[in-house]
Amino acid sequence: MAPNTKITNKRVLSVKIPDGVAPNKNHFRTETVTIDAPVLKENEVFLRNLIFSLDPYIRYDFPEGQNESLVSGFAIARVIDSKNPQVAVGSLVFAAVNWEEYTHVHKPEYLTEVTPLDSVIDSRVPLSAYNGVLGAPGITVWDSLNLVGNLKAGETIYISSAAGTLGSLTGQLAKRKGLRVLGSAGSDEKVAYLKNELGFDGAFNYKTQDKRKALTELVGEKGLDIYYDLVGDDTTEIALDLLNPHGRILAVGILALHQNAEPHAPKNLVNILFKQLRYEGYTVFDRYEEFPKFWKEITPLVANGEIKFKETVLDGGVDDIAETYLRFLSGAYVGKVNVKIADV
Ligand SMILES: NC(=O)c1ccc[n+]([C@@H]2O[C@H](COP(=O)([O-])OP(=O)(O)OC[C@H]3O[C@@H](n4cnc5c(N)ncnc54)[C@H](OP(=O)(O)O)[C@@H]3O)[C@@H](O)[C@H]2O)c1
Repeated sequence: MAPNTKITNKRVLSVKIPDGVAPNKNHFRTETVTIDAPVLKENEVFLRNLIFSLDPYIRYDFPEGQNESLVSGFAIARVIDSKNPQVAVGSLVFAAVNWEEYTHVHKPEYLTEVTPLDSVIDSRVPLSAYNGVLGAPGITVWDSLNLVGNLKAGETIYISSAAGTLGSLTGQLAKRKGLRVLGSAGSDEKVAYLKNELGFDGAFNYKTQDKRKALTELVGEKGLDIYYDLVGDDTTEIALDLLNPHGRILAVGILALHQNAEPHAPKNLVNILFKQLRYEGYTVFDRYEEFPKFWKEITPLVANGEIKFKETVLDGGVDDIAETYLRFLSGAYVGKVNVKIADV
């Protein structure tokens, strides 16, 4: 970019959300600043953010010792300046950015998370899907199931937050591998979606039903082989009781903690010993090199409708994040939520 180009950048700041408190409007503030377009160093990029992915973990991403900080997140963005040979000016990328209109990506840890999209975009799929089913959430599910899931046909898997971005893909991939798939979600509408549209073998509303009773009945005599945990609450204790010998818990998400729940420690960990269970965590952040394999396998299935996904794309500005984030965490949407702040 021409030196001394001035850019007006609207951005969102957040204060630390105290433990035990659900996020609310008072934790976010929007400001508009005028900046000089950055003079890029080797490998750096300057982005116009277009479609933000709304992710549940915003409350944790806060540097220590500051009163306010930029809210970090992921977005599909247009490259407007680049000193990175892998990333062409004018191309589209998926990147770790801040909730702002323009982001100068310069920290080494974030530069590894600038993923070029132009060569992989399938025109049959909306671009926003690269924030969801074909983005970081999608690869998380695919890779965690392959790497630690050890799925076997005939087994039973139970997924919490099953109608969410990760949960709905987990159920469909497990179903394709011949498992019996059970899930829970926070409304009757979501439960019907799981059973009628995604092919779940059973599902219940965890807000209106007793979780232990409902899950025990669904699991039945066959028992449970895998608990895919997206929530991190007391359900783990129930699963530990219901798991069959050599069963597994995949710890992938902690939605209850993003809200305001007190962490729950299971009192029956002894089951791990007696039933020879595996309780394993997974994070995607050092697994991005698997994207090409993931896209090769999953993109055609999404494009031809064999894998279904729901998403909401809200038109707005970065200043809408506070309101949208609250509604999102409280379950107002089905599937992935995106906020589009500029035309592609
Ligand atoms: N390990 C990794 O590398 C990795 C990567 C990506 C995401 N994650 C994590 O995976 C989890 C799921 O992510 P996602 O993007 O798929 O989110 P999501 O399920 O789409 O999140 C939104 C949904 O969470 C549900 N929810 C909120 N609080 C809940 C609670 N206390 N108990 C049960 N459900 C609750 C709500 O649905 P209901 O109406 O059903 O309540 C809401 O619609 C998150 O914790 C996320 O941080 C981990």
